[in-house]
Amino acid sequence: MNRAKHIAIIMDGNGRWAELQGKKRVKGHEAGAEVVKTITTYCSKSSEIERLTLYAFSTENWKRPRLEVEFLMKLLNTYLKNELPVYLENNVRFESIGDIKAFSKTLQKTIKMVEEKTAHCDGLIQSLALNYGAQDEMIRAINTLKDSKGDVTLEMMSDALDCKHNVDLLIRTGGDHRLSNFLLWQSAYAELFFCDTLWPDFTPKELEKIINKFTKVERRFGGLK
Ligand code: IPE
Ligand code: IPE
Ligand code: MG
Repeated sequence: MNRAKHIAIIMDGNGRWAELQGKKRVKGHEAGAEVVKTITTYCSKSSEIERLTLYAFSTENWKRPRLEVEFLMKLLNTYLKNELPVYLENNVRFESIGDIKAFSKTLQKTIKMVEEKTAHCDGLIQSLALNYGAQDEMIRAINTLKDSKGDVTLEMMSDALDCKHNVDLLIRTGGDHRLSNFLLWQSAYAELFFCDTLWPDFTPKELEKIINKFTKVERRFGGLK
């Protein structure tokens, strides 16, 4: 049976969820943040799941209207501050992947603070992808390796990336069937699951169903079974 040690989720559909209810898109992001909390808590209780990587803001999301981007930045800052006691209570270590240098000093400080304060937690690792794009991640990795002696190996490349861990199960909510520049290297052999549920409606029950299906898939990694 497969073990879903590393689950990655493209949390999509916040805006549509809000619009369907005649609300502003940002209300969807607020509701989405609550679901991040519920799903993280659920995963922290599982002995099987070691790592949960969540796509929160892509390198392409800067193209959105300024007010939506500003709202997302503020939401992230308050979310992290409010979550700190919850992370500690659930023994969750928080880390970020992506190029956070583009964020305000205040937000960078909050991210660093929560990373430091949860560094000793050894339960689930919740990794938030913030100003993350797989292409940007790979370019940054290549630039750190370009002056190294000899040929670059698979291990060196993997180690130079923000996320150094292969994904077992990758889920996208919101009905679209694309990766939108998320963990392209690490998902080389991930099992992909797409569901129509909009992220604010996603529940631990639905995650459990997906994990159950994943458990039964035959993963061959190019070999034969
Ligand atoms: C995902 O939801 C959250 C972010 C990208 C920040 P969207 O905001 O993309 O919601 P839809 O896809 O427009 O419904
Ligand atoms: C992917 O969703 C990014 C996040 C969930 C943070 P998008 O809504 O930005 O992706 P596209 O534009 O539909 O590909
Ligand atoms: Mg979207």
